[in-house]
Amino acid sequence: MHDNGEAFRGAVSPLLFVDEHTPVLVGEALAALALQAGGYYVDATFGRGGHTALILQALGREGRLLAIDRDPQAIAAGRQRFADEVRLTLVHASFADLAALVPAHAHGLPCGGVLFDLGVSSPQLDDPRRGFSFRSDGPIDMRMDTSRGEPVSAWLARASLDEIREVISTLGEERFARRIAQAIVATRTEHPLTRTNELAALVSRAVRTREPGKHPATRTFQALRMFINDELGQLNRGLNAAVDVISRGGRLAVISFHSLEDRVVKNFFRDESQIDPVFLDLPAIPPEAQPRLRLVGRKSRPSDAEVKRNPRARSALLRVAEKVV
Ligand SMILES: C[S@@+](CC[C@H](N)C(=O)[O-])C[C@H]1O[C@@H](n2cnc3c(N)ncnc32)[C@H](O)[C@@H]1O
Repeated sequence: MHDNGEAFRGAVSPLLFVDEHTPVLVGEALAALALQAGGYYVDATFGRGGHTALILQALGREGRLLAIDRDPQAIAAGRQRFADEVRLTLVHASFADLAALVPAHAHGLPCGGVLFDLGVSSPQLDDPRRGFSFRSDGPIDMRMDTSRGEPVSAWLARASLDEIREVISTLGEERFARRIAQAIVATRTEHPLTRTNELAALVSRAVRTREPGKHPATRTFQALRMFINDELGQLNRGLNAAVDVISRGGRLAVISFHSLEDRVVKNFFRDESQIDPVFLDLPAIPPEAQPRLRLVGRKSRPSDAEVKRNPRARSALLRVAEKVV
């Protein structure tokens, strides 16, 4: 389970908020993509462009990069940072829609690789107005795409006790999910629950035991964030679409930050890199049952030195595969 690095930080004042994100596993991620100078690549999670900048450095004049993010603020920041970069196309979109986006921006080039760096960026987490953090007070929003969908506060106002419990239990792996859901429902009968501080305090009272180095609201905030952004559903769709659009020999590189996310990636890589078991007893394996991926190397984690420099990298895990058909 990942706590977004919040255990390592104090409260963040909006005035001190820095609009920067330190990219993780940069050497490993670039190596994973096996970049060709004139190739076409996709950064499926632009963030603040840390990986994008490094990919662009490695590409030649003919190379092309499509970078997408579902957060309009990420794209706005990217348009400023890379205003003069003609090789880069920045799109506000979800990576679940890669199947349409990648061919639309291909400039006739085959797609040589897609990078996913999952989770939230530091600017999202650090800006109290986004409501991702239990350490600073803000509206309970947590949407990555603020242009659509409903904030967590709106969902908490209308969901049943069982729905709230289920989300916190499954996506937060939280033992005290029922007590937390009961506390949320009891509070909202008195007044609308709209501020992160109040939610964090309420959860802290409901959680009976303390995990070392972890704020008691960590699991609940993560669960609500994953739910409101449909993160696991998006990830499934994004991985499938990426394998569809990557050309033969191209790479798929995925950085995940917690066990639920990595389980989706691990299972997907496993299923796509072996013959569909349903066909194993047939005398000839039909083409559609052949594996589409070959696993490349072992999973990588950041070095101690990287974690020391950037504590938010500590739970990062990179998996890499190559498209073989
Ligand atoms: C960890 S940050 C990426 C940081 C980036 N690699 C960098 O170095 O600056 C994850 C980003 O992915 C975006 N994101 C998450 N889910 C997404 C989705 N389904 N589609 C597009 N972007 C998504 C988030 O909005 C966030 O900006």
